Amino acid sequence: MQINSNILSLHAVNFFQMTIFYTQDTLKNFVEILKSDGKTIGFVPTMGALHEGHLSLVRNALAGNDIVFVSVFVNPTQFDNATDLKKYPRTLDADVALLKTLGENIFVYAPSVEDIYDSNVHAEKFSFDGLEFEMEGKFRTGHFDGVGTIVKRLFEIVTPDNAYFGEKDFQQLMIIKKLVSKYKIPVKIVGCDIFREASGLAMSSRNQRLSNEARKESAFIHKTLLEAKKKFGTKSATHVKEWVQKQFNKHPLLTLEYVEIANVKNLKTVKRKSKNETYRIFIAAFIENIRLIDNLALN
Ligand code: PAJ
Repeated sequence: MQINSNILSLHAVNFFQMTIFYTQDTLKNFVEILKSDGKTIGFVPTMGALHEGHLSLVRNALAGNDIVFVSVFVNPTQFDNATDLKKYPRTLDADVALLKTLGENIFVYAPSVEDIYDSNVHAEKFSFDGLEFEMEGKFRTGHFDGVGTIVKRLFEIVTPDNAYFGEKDFQQLMIIKKLVSKYKIPVKIVGCDIFREASGLAMSSRNQRLSNEARKESAFIHKTLLEAKKKFGTKSATHVKEWVQKQFNKHPLLTLEYVEIANVKNLKTVKRKSKNETYRIFIAAFIENIRLIDNLALN
């Protein structure tokens, strides 16, 4: 598509023939032009180190919109661990090269921390009606305030019609839906299936940091989720959780942080199963000091 060359001056660079916006002002100008042209905008927020999981979101976005923006921004306010933030892979060149293989109508927004936060690198405080206190919220203090802060800002900048989030981070997806309804943000949130490696391991930017052995062993997480699903047909949620804990206790490399079976409506722990409710099982585990999460629909 034709792009107004003024917009691409200084703060946007046509890199490998893919336009990267580095500042919100240049991006906003461009969005205004797209909107006045009647284009629909899809948006995929990411922290980069892109893999097939991210690309599956971008493919969905391309199928449903004229133009797709992908943001690549390692958001400091959602990390509760400084080492994790420091070690988070930053691979913009490779990310751009991957996105380029998907099509022409993709634009990248790769802002600096200053462009997003100015000099105030702090998260806002949110209430997500209790969703934020379950699972990840219990183990990653302030994480969802950071996620809420960045996604709200990105929505204000990109003003997409549709935004795509993976079920890999199911709790995050629920929280974004809550954010949008609470703040009446006019965007449709589209949840996308978890993309897995052939071994069943859910794709994640953190997988890059795993040794070959750890990567192979981490397939155990999905295998255990599948077996837990079978058991959930006949056994109680408590029984299934205890069974999962036992399997992890026997594993030489993986350490379970939590296993939870929750109602998808409110992410609260299942006390007693009911036929009319929908449940999911969630796991967070460490291997080689790297934290992996996964989940699976149970019914
Ligand atoms: P990030 O971990 O880069 O993930 C970006 C998006 O890709 C999220 O919606 C995530 O759920 C999705 N995703 C990651 N791995 C996936 C997989 N294997 N299959 C399907 N989708 C997958 O999530 C974040 O970044 C950040 O919290 C963000 C929303 C960008 C805010 O900073």
